[in-house]
Formats: sequence, C-alpha cells, structure tokens
Amino acid sequence: MSATIISGKELASEKRKQMKEETEKLKEQGITPGLAVILVGEDPASRSYVKAKQKACSETGIHSELEELPDTVTEEELLEKIDQLNKADHIHGILVQLPLPGHISEEAVIEAISPEKDVDGFHPVNIGRMMTGQDTFLPCTPFGIIEMIKSKGIEIKGKHAVVVGRSNIVGKPVGQLLLKEDATVTYCHSRTENMKDYTKSADILVVAVGKAFFLSKDYIKEGAVVIDVGVNRNDDGKLVGDVDYEGAKEIASYITPVPGGVGPMTITMLLHNTIVSAQKYSA
Ligand code: GUN
Repeated sequence: MSATIISGKELASEKRKQMKEETEKLKEQGITPGLAVILVGEDPASRSYVKAKQKACSETGIHSELEELPDTVTEEELLEKIDQLNKADHIHGILVQLPLPGHISEEAVIEAISPEKDVDGFHPVNIGRMMTGQDTFLPCTPFGIIEMIKSKGIEIKGKHAVVVGRSNIVGKPVGQLLLKEDATVTYCHSRTENMKDYTKSADILVVAVGKAFFLSKDYIKEGAVVIDVGVNRNDDGKLVGDVDYEGAKEIASYITPVPGGVGPMTITMLLHNTIVSAQKYSA
C-alpha cells in the first residue's frame, strides 16, 4: 500500500482563498485585520518563519507589522511594547516569535498579551478555554492538524491517537483537540518506555519531536494516519520531518509530507485566528 498524501500546501491554498474574501468583506465595513509580529534577536529560523507569516498576511489582505528588537532588549521593554499593542485599535492579533533569549521569561511575555489578541492561542486563559471546550483561539499547529485530518473525511471518533512529543505549542494541545474529537489519546515522550508498544497501536500518529528520522516504519501500524510535525535539516541540508517518510508511506493509509504538510497549515490557522479576532472586534 502506498499512503495518500495529505497536502497541507493544497489545503492551505484553498482556505486562504476563502480567507481573502472574508478579509475583503471586513474591509468593506472599514476594518482591516491587523497582526503585529515581534521578533527578538537574529535567529535565522525564527526570521524565516516570521517572513513567511508576513508574506501570507499580505497575500490574504491582512495588515501586518513587524517589530524587530535586538537580543539585548530587556523583559520590561518587551512587556511595554506588548502593552502598547494591546491598546492599539488597528491590531487584532499579537504574535511574539518563540523562542526568546534566556534572560526573558516566555511565560511572562505570553501572559502579557491580551487573551483577546492572542492569535497563537498560547495564553493560559485560552489554553484553559480550549481544555474546557469553550470558544477560543486554538493554537495554530494543532488546529491545522485537525483541519488536515478532517479534510480527508478521516474518522477521529473512537480511534486511538498517539501523540509523540509533549511541547506546550504542539504535543499537549493536539492531544486535547483529538480528545475533543472523541479519540482515545496516548502521549509518548522522551521518558516513555517501550514506545513502540504505543505507536504500533496508533490509528492516528502525530509526531512532534524535532529530530530527523526519529520514527521508522517499524513503529507504525499498517493503515495508520501519520502526521509529521517535524521540520529538520538532514545531512544534505534538505528539509525532512521526524518520520522516515519513504518507509512510512509504504504502510500508512495517509501521511503528511515535509515540506508542504503541517507547516503551511500552521500559518493558515494564524491568518484564520487574526480574521476571527477582527470580526469579533467589528461585531
Ligand atoms: N515558534 C515556533 N512555532 C511558533 C508558533 O507557532 N508561534 C510562535 N509565536 N512562535 C513559534
């Protein structure tokens, strides 16, 4: 069997067309959705993610502004900047690109963003809302993953979903969203013993570890749906996921590629959250 590819690139492109129309409708009411992005320091990966987010905003008709701060910026100065953006009427979403330099508390920064402008869905208030099933901004990567699974009409209800990785940004919240869709969820992580026992029984396997070729096909059940969140460079400088794609696609029923899989959907859900925030503002 060769797996069907779930192309995040294609799904993102379809969704962004609809979003552009929604943005145009808002503009007719005199509201341009606005996203503020704060980039601290010179990390090349962060810079390229931020660039991609801004490009996607401009293609969708969303106003975006970039605040670049040196890595010597103090936590106080950064919090002051967030405070200004919280109060700015033309800004509906605020995103502080992570990671931040070690002298700045990411927790303090995330908590400083108004929950009503937290389009990343990282604020503890929004995480609490997500966990209790309330309407809120969902974290973009997990949200995109659920959209990708649903786009293929794959049943989540009653299925065994195994999440490998327990980060606050991806692993933990994607498990919650799968639970909300009535999956039976198992989390695996760096301290899990006999990981294969769990991954081999997964109907839906989400891998978010950040290590190239972390999971070989021996860890995957025949017919499983494999969602690869990893973005790593291999020895040839090529982008690869956490899963051995060539091996896995021979036994999975569905698989996401890297690049062109989860990545474009993360940005798309960020656009979605920003538009929804602007719509709420206009209501
Ligand atoms: N760093 C890696 N992924 C993300 C993300 O989705 N949002 C932010 N703000 N920083 C990140």
